Amino acid sequence: MTSKNKLRRKALTGAALAAALTASGTASAQSKATSGMPLSDEVVRARADALIAQMTPEEKAGQITQYFDFTDSPEEAKRVTDEMAASRAGSLLFVHDPAELDRLQHIAVEKTRLKIPLLFGYDVIHGLRTIMPVPIAVAASWDPGVAQQAQTVAAREARAVGIHWAFAPNLDIARDPRWGRLIEGAGEDPYLGSAMAAAQVRGFQGSYIGSPGHVISGPKHFAGYGASIGGRDYDEVNLSDSELWNVYLKPFKAAVDAGAGNIMSAYMGVNGVPATGNRWLLTDVLRKTWGFKGFVVTDAGAAHDLLTHGFAASNEDAAVRALTAGVDMEMAPPFGMSAFKTLPQSLAAGKITTAQLDDAVRHVLEAKIRMGLFEKPYVDLQAAKRVLADPAHREVARMAAERSAVLLRNEGGALPLSRRALKSIAVIGPLADSARDTVGPWVFDQDDKETVTVLAGIKAEVGSGVKVAYSPGVTLPARVNKSIFQSDEQFAAGKARNVDDTPEIQRAVALAKDADVAVLVLGEGQIMVGENASRSSLDLPGRQQELLDAVIATGKPVVVLLMSARPLDIKGSKPAALMDIWYPGTQGGTAVANLLFGKVSPGGKLPYNWPRNIGQVPLPYAHLTTHQPKTVEERYWNESNTPLYPFGYGLSYSTFAFSNLKVDKAKVARGVAVPVSVDVRNTGSRKADEVAQLYIHQRYGTAARPVRELKGFERLTLEPGETRTVRFTLSPDDLSYWAASTRSFVQDATTFDVYAGNSSTAALGGSFEVAD
Ligand code: NOJ
Repeated sequence: MTSKNKLRRKALTGAALAAALTASGTASAQSKATSGMPLSDEVVRARADALIAQMTPEEKAGQITQYFDFTDSPEEAKRVTDEMAASRAGSLLFVHDPAELDRLQHIAVEKTRLKIPLLFGYDVIHGLRTIMPVPIAVAASWDPGVAQQAQTVAAREARAVGIHWAFAPNLDIARDPRWGRLIEGAGEDPYLGSAMAAAQVRGFQGSYIGSPGHVISGPKHFAGYGASIGGRDYDEVNLSDSELWNVYLKPFKAAVDAGAGNIMSAYMGVNGVPATGNRWLLTDVLRKTWGFKGFVVTDAGAAHDLLTHGFAASNEDAAVRALTAGVDMEMAPPFGMSAFKTLPQSLAAGKITTAQLDDAVRHVLEAKIRMGLFEKPYVDLQAAKRVLADPAHREVARMAAERSAVLLRNEGGALPLSRRALKSIAVIGPLADSARDTVGPWVFDQDDKETVTVLAGIKAEVGSGVKVAYSPGVTLPARVNKSIFQSDEQFAAGKARNVDDTPEIQRAVALAKDADVAVLVLGEGQIMVGENASRSSLDLPGRQQELLDAVIATGKPVVVLLMSARPLDIKGSKPAALMDIWYPGTQGGTAVANLLFGKVSPGGKLPYNWPRNIGQVPLPYAHLTTHQPKTVEERYWNESNTPLYPFGYGLSYSTFAFSNLKVDKAKVARGVAVPVSVDVRNTGSRKADEVAQLYIHQRYGTAARPVRELKGFERLTLEPGETRTVRFTLSPDDLSYWAASTRSFVQDATTFDVYAGNSSTAALGGSFEVAD
C-alpha cells in the first residue's frame, strides 16, 4: 500500500477513529448509545415517555424550542442562557467553541429542574475546522464515497467540540443558477442528488444515530426551496405535483431511507401553502408515506413567518399551525422571540391537544437519548483539540478537492503544465490568493492561516526553479445589498472602497507578457454565493472579464480557474484551458496545483447544464419533448438553445471510448429489473478517471417523460489501454414515476431507450421493451 493509500484508508475509517475518542460506555442498557450499539426503539420511547410524564406544559414548549446563541452579543447570550436555565429551551444553535458548549451543557444538566441535556445544532455544511470543497463541488465528483468521507470528517470534528446535529445536507434541487444556494446542494438532477443525499446522511450519522464520532443529519429545506421564482432567495415556489414527486422530493426520500434523524422545513410557500405550515408535506408525505421517525425543525423563524406569509392570524396561531402541520421543534428567529412559547396557552385554550404536544417533545427527547447525551453530555476539551488538528482530515479535504474539479476546456493539451518546461508563471486574479474565498461560504470556524490558496499551492509545487509572479488584477465589487453574513461595518467598508483597477490590470497584463503561462483565478467572492446571495446576472463580477480579455490578447497560453458555484458567462472568451475548481476548501491550493501539474487528472463532471446565456435559464437537460422537437435548439431566434456545457460533461487528461452497450433483455415484464452493461476503455496514455453514465428515455406512457434521465453512474480509474465493463441494473423503481394523469406512481408497459457515455449527450444507445 502506498503512503497516499494509507492516508486514504485512515480517512475512510473515520468512524472507527472517532469511536476510540469516545469514552467507552458502561454496561447498562442506557449507555449503549455511547458504547457502539444502537438503543432499541422501545427503550428509547419508554425513557422519553418517563420524562414527558414529569414535564409541565411550559417545560414541554421549552424542550421543543431552539434559540440562536450569539456569543458575540453578550446581552443576547445572557437572554438565551436565562431562557435555557429556566427550562425554556431544549436546543441552541450557532455555538461552536468547545469550552462554551461545555459550559452551557453544565447549566442544562446541573441547574434545570429535570436535568435534560441540550441538543446543540450547527450549520456544518462542508466542514467545521477542516473545510471540504462546497457541496456542489462534491456532487461534481460524481463519487458518493467522497461525499460520505467528507461528511464523516465534518461530523467527527463537530461531535468532538460538542455539536450533536448538523443542519445538512441541503437537498434542494436547483435548476436556476441565479439562486445563490445552488452551491449548497447537488445541482439539478434527482438521481445524482439522491445518491449524494444518502451518502452525506451516512457520513454525518455513521451506521446509526448515536454512532460514536457522529452527529444527527438534518436534510433541508423541505421542500421545493430551490425552485423559488426568478431564483430569488426565499421567494414563493410553484411546482406541479409531477415535479415535486419526480424531482424535488426524491433526494429527501433517499435521505429518509438512509435514516436521517432530522428534517428542516423550508421558509417559502409551496403552491400557496407555507412549507412550515404544510401538513401535506410534513405529515402526509414525510411521516405517513415515508415513515420518517426523527424530528422536524423549522428553518430560522419560519414558524413566526406563517404570520408574515399571511397564513396565520397571530404568532400564537402560527405556532399552533406549525405544530399541527407536523413541526416538532421551532428554530426561533435570530434575536427574536419564539412562537412556540405560546403553546401552553394554546393548550389551555384547547387549540392543541396534550398528545400533539407530547409527540413533538418525544421526537426531540428520543434524539437526545439516541445520541447518548444523558450519559455523556460534556465535551472532552483535549480530545477536541486533537480531532480538530488531525492531519488525516486535511488529506480528505485535498482528495475531495482534486476529485471535484471539472475540466471544461483544454485546447491542444494546454494542461497539464510541465514543471520542467516552464520558467515562469503569472498567477493573476482577485481569488488567486484569498484564503477566505478559497473555503467558500457557510464556514465559521475555519483557520484562514492554514488554508492553501491557489497561489500558495502553485508556489509550493514548483519550488524555486520556476518564477511565480502574482497580481490580483482587479478588485471584486461590493454587494449592492447587504448580506446576512456581513456586519454593518463590513458592508459599509465594501461600499466605501473605491479602487481604480486600471493600473493593476496593466500590471497583470505585463506579468502575463513576461511569463510562459498565465493562470487566472476568477469568479465570485464567497459573499456572492450561498444564502441571501441570488444574482440577476451570470457575468464575472467587476472588471474580471476585461482583465481576462486583456490577458488573452497577450497571446500567451491562458489557463482560467473558475472559483464559482454557478455557471458563469465568460462571454465566449477562449482561454487555452478552463477548469471549474469551485470553492475547493482548506487544501484547495494543493489540490489545484496537483491538477495543474498533472499529479492527478481531473475527473469531475458538471452537476448541471451550463447555459450559454442567462436568458436560457432554467435549462434542465431532463426536459420534455414537445411540438417540433427537431427545432428544440432553435427555440430562440437569436442563438442556439443548447447548453454551453451539458450536464455530466467534464474532460480528462486522458481520453475514453464507450462501446459494447448491452441491454440484457430485449423484453421484460413489469416489475423485472433490466441489467445493462457498457465497456469503457482508456484510449489515452495516462492513468485517469472517467464517469460512466446511464440515461433512459421512456418513449410513451401514462404521462410524458423527459428526453433523458440519469439512472446510473460510476466513477472509474483506468490505466492507459485498460478496458472495464461497467454493469448497471435498471430496477422497476428506476422505470417508475409519478404520473399526473393517475395521480400515482406507475410503471408503464412501453419502450425505453438507453444511452451510455460520459455526459448527458451520450450517443451510444440501445433499447428494451416492458410488456404487460
Ligand atoms: C437559515 C437557513 O435557511 C438554514 O439553511 C440554516 O440552517 C439556518 N438559517 C440556521 O443557520
